[in-house]
Amino acid sequence: MNYRGYAYVYTIGCQMNSYDSEKIAAILGSLGYAKTDQLEKADIVVCNTCSIREKAQEKAFSFLGTVAGKKRKRPGLISIMSGCVAQQEGENVFKRIPHLDIVMGTQAFSRLPALISKVQSGMRHVSDTDEPNEIFESMPDFTTLDREKISRFVTIMQGCNNFCTYCVVPHVRGRERSRTPQNIVEEITVLAESGVKEVTLLGQNVNSYGGYGEEDGRGKIDLHTRGLCTFPELLEKINEIEGIERIRFATSHPKNISDELIFAIRDLKKVCNQLHLPVQSGSNAILKKMNRGYTRESYLERIATLRSHCPGVGLSSDMIVGFPSESRQDFDQTLDLIKRVEFDGLFAFSYSDRPNAPASKFPSPLSEEEKMERLNELLSLQEHYTEKSNLASVGKVESVLVEGRSMKNRHAEAEMPSEPQLPQMTGRTESGKIVHFHADNTEPGELVDIYIEHAYPHSLWGRLLKNR
Ligand code: 5AD
Ligand code: SF4
Repeated sequence: MNYRGYAYVYTIGCQMNSYDSEKIAAILGSLGYAKTDQLEKADIVVCNTCSIREKAQEKAFSFLGTVAGKKRKRPGLISIMSGCVAQQEGENVFKRIPHLDIVMGTQAFSRLPALISKVQSGMRHVSDTDEPNEIFESMPDFTTLDREKISRFVTIMQGCNNFCTYCVVPHVRGRERSRTPQNIVEEITVLAESGVKEVTLLGQNVNSYGGYGEEDGRGKIDLHTRGLCTFPELLEKINEIEGIERIRFATSHPKNISDELIFAIRDLKKVCNQLHLPVQSGSNAILKKMNRGYTRESYLERIATLRSHCPGVGLSSDMIVGFPSESRQDFDQTLDLIKRVEFDGLFAFSYSDRPNAPASKFPSPLSEEEKMERLNELLSLQEHYTEKSNLASVGKVESVLVEGRSMKNRHAEAEMPSEPQLPQMTGRTESGKIVHFHADNTEPGELVDIYIEHAYPHSLWGRLLKNR
């Protein structure tokens, strides 16, 4: 293809945004703009934004501030804000960033070519932030995708119906909508044919894929009459796709994680023995105020059931610290839950008020200092369990999917006997831990057996035993 210019796509936020950014880059590719990672070269700049916390939102404004300078030097440069902040703020964004050409919501990117034409024909401040209620079923043009990746995200559903009181997602991504199983299987089959070995299925709450659990006046809706299926049934279909070696998914909601899903993790060969199950708080009072729909007891019961069927399952979670009115006792309950579960990994966030989220009007907010103190206390407790989990791998043989060369020399850091003549490779265990090892004859995409010799705080070091 003869390219007419370059596009720079800057992504902030979650995996779903990374997936959307790939689609945006593919659409720009089909319009003749090659992807570049040099802002200086760009003819089109897209900032794909996240509004989950204030900090992420500010990052977008600060990036677009930098673009303003570039635009003064190159007036032809087209600047675009997409994603959740765009959806939330709409045309108001132009007041804060007058140089911006396009503000495009979470569902508008299939209409991106038309929006760009408007700018090219002289229109200023073009916006498309209609209510998100459709689903982007079509696939990106894979010829423009970066072909080296062996692991890819695939969004299977969009939006959320849960309305947790702190969360902006239902307001910026709309109600829950699922792609059809056929469309998802088709996309993953194309990915597998182009060399992809691992897919991570994305949705705000994959357990309710297809509308599972929804009721109409006559009771539970039969998903199959709508051409849909349950999430465990979808996993079965993806498990059949030739070439795919590993299947991961995120995020699961504790309130409706079914036994069938636990059995699918146990029984389907390609589904990794891993689960990300955000709990958010260990206090029943706070869970109730968050509108999470489960208790600490029911969460602990689900974990016990999961572990009894799937021994060694890699377990991670999200926590919010400093939700309005969180007392020391509530916070102690959170620490207690961490001690009981012993997560392999944990993402913890300081509570942030979001526009439209009811919790921003709740009484008794905590000060920033209190929130930071609690966050640090929680993180240092979790560090112990992350380390314990990594140490538990030492002396074991792990199946590792090779991703590529290591970015930095781990060996030098640990003062281990080194074999500098061999390239240092990196990959992941089934439970998602990063492993570094020396090898001269492995390629990205291979599954190898690694004997784990050493644990670092956030990764493992091992010795290659054999290629599978
Ligand atoms: N403040 C802090 N953290 C939040 N999260 C979602 N909304 C907020 C908020 N307002 C966290 C939750 C969620 C993760 C993706 O982000 O823990 O699981
Ligand atoms: Fe937000 Fe709750 Fe939906 Fe997750 S389940 S996206 S936290 S509203």
